[in-house]
Amino acid sequence: MEDDELNRLVDKLNLAQKVELLTGATTWRTAAQPAAGLREMVMSDGPAGVRGEAWDERRTSALLPAATALAAMWDEDLAQRLGALLAQEARSKGVHVVLGPTLNLHRSPLGGRHFECFSEDPELTGRTGAALIRGIQSGGVAATAKHYVANDSETDRLTVDVRVPERALHEVYLAPFEAAVEAGVWAVMSGYNAVGGATMTESPLLADPLKERWGFDGAVVSDWAAVRSTVPSALAAQDLAMPGPESAWGEALLRAVRAGEVPEPVIDDKVRRLLRLAARVGALGDPEPARPARHRPRQTRALLRRAVAASAVLLTNHDVLPWTVGAVQTVAVIGAHAARPRLQGGGSAGVFPRHTVTPLDGIRAALRGTAEVIHTPGPGLVEQPWPLDADRCDDPRTGEPGLRLRVLDRAGHELYAEHRLSGRLLEPALVPGAHTVELSAVLRPAVGGEWTFGVGGFGHLELVVDGRQLVAGEYPRTTDDPAVVHVGPPCRHGRIVLRAGRPVEVVARRTLEPDTGRATLLTAAPPPPDPAAALARAVDVARAADVAVVVVGTTEGSESEGHDRLTLALPGDQDALVAAVAATQPRTVAVVNSGGPVELPWRDEVGALLLTWFPGQEAGAGLADVLFGRAEPGGRLPTTWADRLADAPVTRTRPEDGVLAYGEGPHIGHRAWLRAGREPAYWFGHGLGYTTWSHDEIEAPPQAGPDGFTVRVTVRNTGARTGREVVQVYLSRPDSAFERPVRWLAGYAAVTAHPGTSTDVRVHVPARALRHWSPDAHDWRTEPGTYRVHAGRSAGDLTLTTEIEVMLCQEAGE
Ligand code: BGC
Repeated sequence: MEDDELNRLVDKLNLAQKVELLTGATTWRTAAQPAAGLREMVMSDGPAGVRGEAWDERRTSALLPAATALAAMWDEDLAQRLGALLAQEARSKGVHVVLGPTLNLHRSPLGGRHFECFSEDPELTGRTGAALIRGIQSGGVAATAKHYVANDSETDRLTVDVRVPERALHEVYLAPFEAAVEAGVWAVMSGYNAVGGATMTESPLLADPLKERWGFDGAVVSDWAAVRSTVPSALAAQDLAMPGPESAWGEALLRAVRAGEVPEPVIDDKVRRLLRLAARVGALGDPEPARPARHRPRQTRALLRRAVAASAVLLTNHDVLPWTVGAVQTVAVIGAHAARPRLQGGGSAGVFPRHTVTPLDGIRAALRGTAEVIHTPGPGLVEQPWPLDADRCDDPRTGEPGLRLRVLDRAGHELYAEHRLSGRLLEPALVPGAHTVELSAVLRPAVGGEWTFGVGGFGHLELVVDGRQLVAGEYPRTTDDPAVVHVGPPCRHGRIVLRAGRPVEVVARRTLEPDTGRATLLTAAPPPPDPAAALARAVDVARAADVAVVVVGTTEGSESEGHDRLTLALPGDQDALVAAVAATQPRTVAVVNSGGPVELPWRDEVGALLLTWFPGQEAGAGLADVLFGRAEPGGRLPTTWADRLADAPVTRTRPEDGVLAYGEGPHIGHRAWLRAGREPAYWFGHGLGYTTWSHDEIEAPPQAGPDGFTVRVTVRNTGARTGREVVQVYLSRPDSAFERPVRWLAGYAAVTAHPGTSTDVRVHVPARALRHWSPDAHDWRTEPGTYRVHAGRSAGDLTLTTEIEVMLCQEAGE
């Protein structure tokens, strides 16, 4: 819609109507304004699926692989198709704005939200994010680039003040957002954190570079409850305070405008941006003809399955993979994650998948009728109990699989009751007079022994199992973080000995006091198996099989929004499990199910090592495709993996006196490893397919042009299978007048080639890869001179080098 038309609409509104638009009407909706033809807009997290407005396990969604997996594909076409799937999901749920992608970086391997961010590298992050944005917006749904900016870890995330040197801020942390704006993103979310002393909803960075230098014409949405002031945030280029209706804007902002503290044209600009967003997503003017999303479950599942294989990173393979159906008679599938994988990370990104395939399901389906599959979980993970669900318990009133939710008044009378499928209740029905929520279930313990139960949430909690009170007490809210309060509150636990097969009633109650959040959890875990016996059983099963796959990973909650990780070690006895299985079965494939890096002390002992990230709903189907060679493991590492946390050059996530200093400047990820002269376990960009390649020739033009230059790399498929190779190009500048990364990723392209064939791959290196930010000029500059151009398979495996001359004044406008 043209600006003139938008201005005419703005003029139709009085001040109070305009200001009202700038705060959410509800948790997920913006306000409507019929006078301007504006309808409500619905927002939803993102980015691994579109949950819709309800946090309800009965409202299911397609679950995509997590962001680290998407970046590991190094495949913009596929990312764009997945974005289009998100748009389709959004439309089917009436959602106009998807709150993703997350464009923060893997600065420290301990970052708790690593799984939701793409990579350690700004170029790979920017390109993957831009592809996803194009896909989402192609469906008439807005994408939201978040969290602007430098929200790269979770410790004290609401208050942390990130101090990042100006050059690193522009070259590294802002760069993916610039790519998002170039891709035409319609919304940007300002973070909770501060940068350089200004909280992001008040930050001058919203005006410049976002709106001024880059020309972003969409709306800046706050992270949930991140607007904490009236005048400073309104004067900054913050446009919309979410959620609502309570906010620091609203009436207070109206008074501030009337008092002359915020000029009305500032308000008009925000309203204009909101109207523009509405026009883009079909929420302005005559209602658009309904655009029902076509649900094509078969195609959706096929696409998600393809993405699992395309993102799986094969780190090592000693001629163990792929397996041949028919050649294996007995397959040992070991590990708790094989039957109960982590399909997604924790926090606001969570969705309730429509359908899931575990690794065990996928392997069984692939081998049905041709081989025996034996599963054993191995030693326990010492993990927290997880929410009860319809697979484990029955509704005490109806006997159906699931639980009973009752909402009670102060006197304990039932006001409302319904059948639920999960002990993770995030949105109780808010009936008038509601005082207590109660979740109850009948559990038939499959094993006898000491069970652990939990009740989660804030306020007065009570947990009764088999008539015994295990928890009772007051647990006041300890944080303002919405991801903790409303999504993942702490649990209080109690233990009780149960007899196998004898049903017991489990009841959790939480009083609904003000400000205690919405979440109530009821969790349970069986007694862990005897570790020595479970390990011995795993070894026996592996020994007796032709091949073994052992699936290990992080546990629920250890990689989650709202907190950082404390260790990269796999929890429980999983390291001992892999080592013992590998020692007895040389044809062992270790599969790692985590969102971010973990330590792999046994990595040289296994036959093959495969990373599957948080693979989404088709986890097992895609994994089986890779194991049996129906698809190549297509992934390349989006992040450098350390041997041990202690080796990683940048790890700190804990602020000191409220300040987190990015003292390493632009040297994060592989740049940091190169600068430190250390060898990681696996370099950024590394990943094997099922064929082999030689990189034979590189050619660059003598001189870079105003748009950069294109490198030609000749690669040959030297193996026996058709495969896909990701050719990566890095730059270095040995005689630079100032400090630079040892080398940096400048471009990449993928090629598919048949065995024995040579192919030329053209990798474009954009002009942005040649520029640097000058803190003196506060602007981009390009240093003239000779640059080295390196091509190869990872940041640590670059066999081809050439040079290019860069002349003065490369960038437009200079
Ligand atoms: C998260 C955002 C999310 C929002 C709404 C916040 O706590 O940081 O990423 O979009 O909640 O759920």
